Amino acid sequence: QLTLREQLFEILAVTAAFYQHALHQPSGKAALEYLRSERQLNDETIQKFQLGYAPAGWETLYRYLVEQKKFSVQLVEQAGLIRRRKESQISYYDYFRDRLIIPIHDIQGRVIGFGGRTLTDEQPKYLNSPETPLFNKGKTLFALDRAKDAISKQDLAVVVEGYFDAIALHAAGITNAVASLGTALSLDQVKLLLRYNESKELVLNFDADKAGNTAAQRAISEIANLAYRGEIQLRILNLPNGKDADEYLKTYSVEKYQNLLTDAPLWLDWQVEQLLAGKDLRQANQYQQVAEEIVKILSSIIDDNQLTHYVNQCAERLSKGDSRQIPLIS
Ligand code: CTP
Ligand code: MN
Ligand code: MN
Ligand code: MN
Ligand code: MN
Repeated sequence: QLTLREQLFEILAVTAAFYQHALHQPSGKAALEYLRSERQLNDETIQKFQLGYAPAGWETLYRYLVEQKKFSVQLVEQAGLIRRRKESQISYYDYFRDRLIIPIHDIQGRVIGFGGRTLTDEQPKYLNSPETPLFNKGKTLFALDRAKDAISKQDLAVVVEGYFDAIALHAAGITNAVASLGTALSLDQVKLLLRYNESKELVLNFDADKAGNTAAQRAISEIANLAYRGEIQLRILNLPNGKDADEYLKTYSVEKYQNLLTDAPLWLDWQVEQLLAGKDLRQANQYQQVAEEIVKILSSIIDDNQLTHYVNQCAERLSKGDSRQIPLIS
């Protein structure tokens, strides 16, 4: 007798195969075309990530799983794949419809949920599986199953925001990349990464937009204690021109990305830069505000050498102002 979890795993695996098949049917043509031309993904990557297509009908998956495959309707609902119609006790509709499907796997590579991207400008842009007994978004890192060996080998993990950021990095040969799925990286997610990463080096590469910046700041406050204690080596990569990793790779090159990755500043340096950005230190109130914030950041540093280094560096910056941000009076 299978446990509930085993039954849900089976349903999700069958569903992933269904979506994958649908991508290569006539009705999936637009989705496949989107992957190939807009996303510039080759068939190997499409295959590797088991990308698929959820057909546009209201009950396509329902009919397949419940009527054809004879899975129990309650289990299919628990797997997060169908929803009961409000006005009815017995009628269900597919959760994902007319969306590009990105399966989400656990560390062992079993499907635990899906992300679905619209091909139109429908909102939301991404629909994700609801929380189920198998899927907890805040405890999952997309592509970790494919990235864990490279993370362990390089002792470095790159964390991006989006599904396609991770996929594009893997396709470009940067296979130690995982995606946090749009949430600020949680402590649970970092702990997952640290299982594979002996030198504990992490680079956060969130989108260079307002949401990405907020997510990076939130991730930092979530894991700052680990970083202050030296339990992780945290660096921040901010891409130029408001781009995410996927867009950057398409516009520039993997070599350029690799350089930025190598040069990504330590998180404290990044924090200080963020505080100084756009400030005019000749104005007393701005000077004081920045100085207070910097003291707040530095006061948690535990390591004496680090503390000395940052205190000196910040003192210098504050006394001089920043010639890159602040034009000197001639
Ligand atoms: N996300 C989500 N729900 C949304 C928007 C975003 O779950 N409504 C998550 C997705 O995992 C997405 C990530 O947050 O990949 C980053 O969001 P965003 O930068 O807006 O999306 P992109 O991944 O860049 O989207 P696109 O497919 O357009 O590249
Ligand atoms: Mn290792
Ligand atoms: Mn974004
Ligand atoms: Mn993005
Ligand atoms: Mn994007």
